[in-house]
Order: sequence, then structure tokens, then C-alpha cells
Amino acid sequence: MNGKKYSVVIAGGGSTFTPGFVLDLIKSQDKFPMRQLKFYDNDAERQKKIGEAVKIIMKERAPQIKFSYTTDPKEAFTDVDFVMGSIRVGKYHMRSLDEKIPLKYGVNGQETTGPGGMAYGLRSIPAIIQIIDWMQEYSPNAWMINYSNTIAIVAEACRRLRPNAKIINICDMPIDDMDRMAAICGLDSWHDIDFNYYGLNHFGWWKEVRNKKTGEDLMPKLKEYVKDHGYWVGGDYDKDTEPSWEATFKKVADDYKMDPETLPNNYMQYYYFPQYEVANADPKHTRTDEIREHRQKIVFGECERIVKAGTAKNNIWDISGLHSEYIVDIIHAIAYNTHEKFLANCPNNGAISNMDPDSIVEVPALFGADGIQPMATGKAGRFQRGLMMEQQTCEKLVVDAYVEHSYQKMLQAFALNKTVPDASVAKKILDDMIPVNAPYWPELK
Ligand code: NAD
Ligand code: LMR
Repeated sequence: MNGKKYSVVIAGGGSTFTPGFVLDLIKSQDKFPMRQLKFYDNDAERQKKIGEAVKIIMKERAPQIKFSYTTDPKEAFTDVDFVMGSIRVGKYHMRSLDEKIPLKYGVNGQETTGPGGMAYGLRSIPAIIQIIDWMQEYSPNAWMINYSNTIAIVAEACRRLRPNAKIINICDMPIDDMDRMAAICGLDSWHDIDFNYYGLNHFGWWKEVRNKKTGEDLMPKLKEYVKDHGYWVGGDYDKDTEPSWEATFKKVADDYKMDPETLPNNYMQYYYFPQYEVANADPKHTRTDEIREHRQKIVFGECERIVKAGTAKNNIWDISGLHSEYIVDIIHAIAYNTHEKFLANCPNNGAISNMDPDSIVEVPALFGADGIQPMATGKAGRFQRGLMMEQQTCEKLVVDAYVEHSYQKMLQAFALNKTVPDASVAKKILDDMIPVNAPYWPELK
């Protein structure tokens, strides 16, 4: 501890993840003491619903922390130590289109994968760059921890357009998978696991999984389980897991068989089995609809209940969420220079020995006051390298399309993607996406 009290702003204050994150911040006051918490969003009405409930939570549980919410960038980004990036440009309306337009043409419809993921990435680039610029102007010493998707594309844009920015792009999906591995092995949580992992975002593999305390190699036990059940744990562990996630975690059993030497990130199924994903999707009811019916309803319903009751006693976030806990762990590591090991999306620079230095990769890194130090993970297998080269080229082409306002580059990005069967399909999807993305994308010529 250094005696300092921190000031944090959540960009995307109206995010469904915000209240859970706030509760975890409050619980961590002995570990990460704060003096100020702010929310920033460009949708005042949406943010107000969360902001008013959080006001009550803060008054009851952490009155020593000054709390406010705003849509004014100067007010939001002045006097902060950490910016949390949790924005969704175009909100769920656009996510729905990211998922449904490709499905119309028999192509995978998923938030961060395939054409939908690339469309989302192109929307996020200007908004994240703008937030970086505000942070640099109003709080030049602050760090931004960004988990706004599509992370791989956002990270590539940062590498090219703001190479010196103090931004760390993270994702909690591997943490979720590792927490499941811990449960499968009878350990308490992912904190009990040591690992070697490499890949791209939502596109990676574990080479090694060990019991952190004893050093026991857990791979044999995990492989035996995963080949039949994937990362599905079931029972109490999965009592709140939504149906589409159940299918996702179970499908890992098939992903695993593509390379029994490693354990896959659960997102590999969208690239290994795109036809299966399409065959099992309902083009009228995608994950967006599931979230609208489940997470959004629960979060906004609970905020309304708290505001009406005037108290946050027994709220649903009193049980920690993995996502917010992980983010608190990360800020703590930077604030106190702990050099703990987490995963980061960053330029490769040798971390995967047979990938280009300027590839954006997802690898273990030590987190401290100076940001991240990516770790060497060794060599990627031939199969994995081939997959990564293709996928990261798509991600780079999206950033080219942004920089050059190029229709051609975006078309190439779609056509190259493993989820898209041919260039004429890529063109149809892109041509449908352009008008609906007009408020967010540069004009592609
Ligand atoms: P959400 O739609 O519930 O909330 C996002 C908020 O961002 C909304 O309130 C919206 O008004 C706001 N917003 C949009 N554009 C903005 C801008 N330019 N400036 C300020 N605010 C803006 O979204 P969610 O489901 O809570 O997800 C938030 C983000 O976190 C998404 O990018 C999602 O993909 C990402 N996510 C990441 C991980 C991870 O670990 N990487 C996990 C889950 C979600
Ligand atoms: C989320 O919003 O939870 C995502 O980032 C992951 C998903 O597919 O829903």
C-alpha cells in the first residue's frame, strides 16, 4: 500500500456490468482505496438508471468515496487515475444487426466473431481513440483498462494510431474458462491455477495448466474431462448460466479434438465449426435477444427496485462476478506494482516466437506500475499459426479500412475470414452492413 486514494472513471457507465463492478470496488477498499468514482456515458438516460441506483449503493456502503455521473468528457476525465473502458458503440441495437445480418447469408452471427465482430470493431475504433485523447488531455498520468470489444481490432488500432497511449486491452473469457478448469479439478477458483496460454483474442490455446501451489500438471486430468464435457461444469456452478453459454461450453469437447495437445479457448468453435453454429442458430433470436430477456432485464430491473426502495440492501450483486473481480485484480496490480500475471492483448514482439512482432496477440503478461511486460510463450503449433495468421490479417484489414476509408479493405477482411465461405457472400454482408453502420463507420469508398 502507498497511502494513496484513487479516482476511477467508468466509460460506459450505463453498461450492464457497471453495478457488479462497483460492488466489487467497494468490497476491495482495503486492497484498493478510492476517493472518487465517476461514470461517463454518451447516453444520459441509460446511464441515469444505473447512476441513481449506484448513488444509493455508495451512500450506504462507501460514503467516503465521492460519486457522480456525467456525459461531459472534461468533467469525466479530469482528475482520474484509472479509466475503465466498457462501452458498446451502437448498443444492443447494433449488436443485434451484427449477429443477424451474417445469419441471413448463412454466416455465423456472433458479437466478436466473423463479419459481426469486424463490424463492431470498426464502430469501436473512433470512440476508443477519442476516449484515449480525452484521458491524455485531462489526466495524462492515468491508465485505461479497456475491455470494450472487439478487443483485437481495438488493440491493433491503438498500436497503430496511439502507440504511446497508456491503455491495456484485456478480456475475461480465458479467465472464465480457467475458473471452469479450476472447478473441474476441485480447486476454488482460477486464482489457484498457473498457466501458459497463447493466441489472439477469443482465439487461443492453453499449453500448460498447473496447480499454482503444488505445481501439479493438471492437463491430463483436464483433457480426460474436456474430451467428453468441454468446460461445462454443471450443478451449482452453472445454475445461472444462460442456455447459449451451456451449448458453448459443451461444444469445447469437439474443439479440443482438433488439437489434443492443447486446451482451446471456447470461442474456437466459431472458426472450427461455422456450419454447425449456423445450423444451430435462430436468425430471429440471437444472443442479443437472450441478453435483453435476461441480463439487461435483471440489471435494469434491480436498479429500478433499488431506487424505488431507497436502499440497496440484499442486492443481486452482493455475490461477486468473475468479470468485475478480475478487473479489480488488474487495477490493483498496476496501482501497487505487484507484477502479477494476467492476460493482455498487445503487440507480439517475440512473445509467440513464430509470429510477427507487430501481430496483436493475447498472451500472459506481468502487470505493474509501468503497464505490462508480455511473457515469452514459445512457439505456436503449425495449425494454430495458420489460423492466427488468417484471423489477425482480417483484424489488420479492418484497421486499414478505418484509416484509409477503404471499402476494398473491409471487403477483403470479410472475404478472408474463416467464417465466410466466399467473396460474393462477404460482399452481400458488407453491403447490408454499410447503411446501418453509417452513424459510426467512416464512409467506405
Ligand atoms: P451495454 O450496452 O450494456 O453498455 C455499454 C454502454 O456504453 C451503454 O450505456 C452505451 O450508452 C455506452 N456507450 C456507447 N458508446 C459510447 C461512447 N462512445 N462513449 C461513452 N459511452 C458509450 O454493454 P455491455 O454488454 O455491458 O458491454 C460493455 C462492453 O464490454 C462491450 O464492449 C462488451 O463487448 C464488453 N465486454 C467485454 C468483456 C471482456 O472481458 N473483454 C466481457 C463482457 C463484455
Ligand atoms: C458479453 O456481452 O457478455 C460478451 O462480451 C460475451 C457475449 O457473447 O455475450
